[in-house]
Amino acid sequence: MANTILVGAQWGDEGKGKIIDVLTEQADVVVRYAGGNNAGHTVMVNGKKSVLHLIPSGILRPHKLCVIGNGVVCDPIGLVSEMDDLRQHGIKVTPKNFVLSETAHVVLPYHRELDGTRELLKGKNKIGTTKRGIGPAYGDKAARVGLRINDLIDSAKLEEKLSDRIKENNVVLKSLGAKPLSFKQVFAEYDQAGRRLKPFVQNTVVLLHEQMRAGADILFEGAQGTFLDLDHGTYPFVTSSNTTAGGACTGSGVPPHRMDRVVGVMKAYTTRVGEGPLPTENQEISNLLHGMGREFGATTGRPRRCGWFDAVATRHASMVNGIDDLAITNLDGLDTVESIKVCVAYRQGKRQYDYVPNDAQVLAACEPMYVEFEGWRCPTVSCRTFKRLPAKAREYVKAISELSNARLFIASVGPGREQTIFV
Ligand code: GDP
Ligand code: IMO
Ligand code: MG
Repeated sequence: MANTILVGAQWGDEGKGKIIDVLTEQADVVVRYAGGNNAGHTVMVNGKKSVLHLIPSGILRPHKLCVIGNGVVCDPIGLVSEMDDLRQHGIKVTPKNFVLSETAHVVLPYHRELDGTRELLKGKNKIGTTKRGIGPAYGDKAARVGLRINDLIDSAKLEEKLSDRIKENNVVLKSLGAKPLSFKQVFAEYDQAGRRLKPFVQNTVVLLHEQMRAGADILFEGAQGTFLDLDHGTYPFVTSSNTTAGGACTGSGVPPHRMDRVVGVMKAYTTRVGEGPLPTENQEISNLLHGMGREFGATTGRPRRCGWFDAVATRHASMVNGIDDLAITNLDGLDTVESIKVCVAYRQGKRQYDYVPNDAQVLAACEPMYVEFEGWRCPTVSCRTFKRLPAKAREYVKAISELSNARLFIASVGPGREQTIFV
């Protein structure tokens, strides 16, 4: 399979977890390279649902090595509980199949407190974060005051660094009207988590290069989506990491010339959870999908905002990520729609855009220009080959791939592993 980066081509929740699980069959190693437990990646195997937040979605396949890379911010309490949860469901998580980077940054309680408090203070201008402390944790990393996993697993270092950081953060928290933290309590909890995680911790850069020398094929699991990227997304309504393909290099230590392919995952329509512009947002399609019990956040349970497929956005995503192949998911979500709209350009006043403008305010003022496709109006969930898809569904996925400027690779017609059509 060679080394493949998989990214979300929209605003997150494109179905990356499902596609990672499918592609893991051909891979040896799966690496998460950015984000933290703000992610929620759903995998359905034999009708059993698992939601992964930090551990790569490859963990559901035995004998695959799963790695959390240096670019991830890791909430150790969340990670330990995710490991316990998987084990309770009969999934092995041992130092043989799961490794954590010693230089991944640690998400601490003051990050979560600050995240929540800042959102509260922003009032109607809030970002709608997952409140997992992601922004403040990456902020500390950039400010060079973060703790890394290596600090977490060394009690003496943890005690010294945490004590300093809690002192400073308590001043900030108090000044914002939030409750200060108890060093003793936080230290006890995090020291214990560090002890649990220690056997899994390694220099993952060296490990990944050893794996490559041994001929391993690596799959890089993106989290979030292109338009939540800190640099390329709809700033400030973004997450705090580089979710796009470049992040796979910096977040893992595997250099660009060793990357062979970029797969973009996108839904056959658009969703977004949290605030910020979403040009093709549409109440009718929101009602339809929510009515089917679909499109509720895998991490926070919030209803996702829904809209028509936005080809301006996905074409932009192909450009920024260098997407070669596309996996189109949730095609079955449109099974009952009579007439399906696809946005092919934006208009704002007299100006027309065929790319996503950088200013979130400008983007929010953009009117989508649509073309319409006739719906196929029959179930696709049992189709297993491209030929078996209704002709109008084939036309639709081909058209949105062309508009997105990348090759059609997979069409997905249900959450299950088997509901995957290779084109
Ligand atoms: P991720 O964050 O990109 O991994 O996506 P999420 O797991 O947050 O959300 C995607 C949702 O769509 C999950 O509930 C998946 O089980 C579901 N899903 C993925 N592909 C398909 C599909 O082709 N059809 C249907 N019906 N559901 C899908
Ligand atoms: P996966 O990997 C969808 C959104 C939040 C908010 C913004 C910032 O499952 O696709 P943060 O907590 O990161 O500071 O929130 O980003 N967001 C996601 N939306 N899927 C995700 O992950 C997301 N992770 C963060 O809703 O708008
Ligand atoms: Mg998700």
